Amino acid sequence: MYVLEATAVACANIAFIKYWGKRDAELNLPANSSLSMNLDRLTTLTTVEFSPNYDDDLVILDGREETGAARQRIVTHLDRVRAMAGLRARAKVVSENSFPVGAGLASSASGFAALSLAASRAAGLELSQQELSILARFGSGSACRSVPGGFTEWTAGTCSEDSFATQIAPPEHWELRDVIAIVSRAHKRVGSTEGHALAPTSHLHQARVASVAERLAQAKAALLEKDLATLGPLIEEDAFSMHAVMMTSRPPIHYWLPSSIRLIHEVQNWRAEGLEVYFTFDAGPNVHLICQAGDQAEVERRLKGIEGVLEVIVSGPGPGARVIAP
Ligand code: DP6
Repeated sequence: MYVLEATAVACANIAFIKYWGKRDAELNLPANSSLSMNLDRLTTLTTVEFSPNYDDDLVILDGREETGAARQRIVTHLDRVRAMAGLRARAKVVSENSFPVGAGLASSASGFAALSLAASRAAGLELSQQELSILARFGSGSACRSVPGGFTEWTAGTCSEDSFATQIAPPEHWELRDVIAIVSRAHKRVGSTEGHALAPTSHLHQARVASVAERLAQAKAALLEKDLATLGPLIEEDAFSMHAVMMTSRPPIHYWLPSSIRLIHEVQNWRAEGLEVYFTFDAGPNVHLICQAGDQAEVERRLKGIEGVLEVIVSGPGPGARVIAP
């Protein structure tokens, strides 16, 4: 009897320039390139064990056995790895998130990055960072950006082989912080995969896609120069551009809650008072406040006094996906 096992860990990430809309849903190719920072406090630790003793794939996430569509998405990913490795054995997948279950934070990026690395290693594959990023992309688009460390760019590319993420700066490049204000722990009504499919129904989608390249180039240059006064407004503009597409798709998707909008106004006031902080959102109501390490405590202090903020989670730039064992 043989057992093939590996454990890997990966960070979630926050996009400064967002991925919204797919040009090929089958290959998970994005409508546009994107730029993000890995989040050191939001991680997923995953162990994959292939064994001929298993009759079927078993998936345990945060102590609970997954069933239905959530399990199927992981089984499909295991099938990709099995096909690459020429392996038939079923697997047991045990995965734990470092962040509170149901905090309303997406775990597909850290989850599929960790799963791709653990499963490929357990299957005996030694994938390059590029191959691993491509594999993770198939599981969830944003997961490809969690494979390299620090600040990463996912180039939309021309085909599957050249659509992957690369590091543009290591974690130690810049002590940026993502101070996440949790305003809802509810599971979102429209998941990202479903939302991506609606993007082309918005009359703003093509305009957004056409505007990304320039914004991304400017954001990347500002990031490399550690120039938050230039980067911050680009981050906000891109988040608004994505949410404008969401809100004008058919049917429209509204992710913000009253407390999300309240925080937009608060952050604008704080900035007027001299506190250098900017906001962004993913496909949900929680607000990500981006600031430099020196302003983190003040941002946290102000957030704690605001009604509707249920919890605050702070992350700095995180490392890439890595094998923990064996
Ligand atoms: C709003 O990567 O979750 O967070 O590829 O269908 O799994 P799938 O979608 P996903 O979409 C993330 C969308 C976003 C923006 C971003 O992270 O770039």
